[in-house]
Amino acid sequence: MKIKGRPLRLLVSEEEIANRIKGLAKEIQDYFGEPFLVVGLLKGAFVFTADLIRAFDIPVQVDFMWVSSYGSMQESQGHVKVVKDLDRDIEGLRVLLVDDILDTGYTLAEVYRLLELKGAREIKTCVLLDKKERRKVNFNADFVGFEVPNLFLVGYGLDWDEEGRNLRGIYAVE
Ligand code: IMP
Ligand code: MG
Repeated sequence: MKIKGRPLRLLVSEEEIANRIKGLAKEIQDYFGEPFLVVGLLKGAFVFTADLIRAFDIPVQVDFMWVSSYGSMQESQGHVKVVKDLDRDIEGLRVLLVDDILDTGYTLAEVYRLLELKGAREIKTCVLLDKKERRKVNFNADFVGFEVPNLFLVGYGLDWDEEGRNLRGIYAVE
């Protein structure tokens, strides 16, 4: 398989993702122990959020924020623009903030700060993928699906300039 003429190499299969999500969902709901609000980050986390919420046995509510940090470039800029804010007031709520991948950390660190300012009672973070060695700010997620090497990844919601989001597994662009 290719996107933009570049070959793709499978890194995490559809089955591996599905299995890991079952485990993650259990960890998360055992931690919360009661209904909570899931905040997914658009666009990258829409696929992961959709699968994660359907693995919970307790009722959750879902909202999305759309923040952009990448544009069509591959490197985060250290500032985050809110394209679409939450639809609702989250004051006093327990929130699970969900993203596709933690890279430099700028995005999640900044959105975490925004949710704090909105008065969330508690914020836990969950990412499907963690590129630990790329971190530029001191920020780690509470729940991590897979640690991945420093490669550019597409699939399962992650894109390269809007391509590749629909792939069922996670692929490295070679
Ligand atoms: P951070 O702010 O550098 O942590 O970047 C987080 C955002 O960058 C994620 O939400 C992704 O949208 C995007 N991103 C980081 N690494 C990749 C990648 O390998 N492929 C596609 N998008 C990525
Ligand atoms: Mg993203």
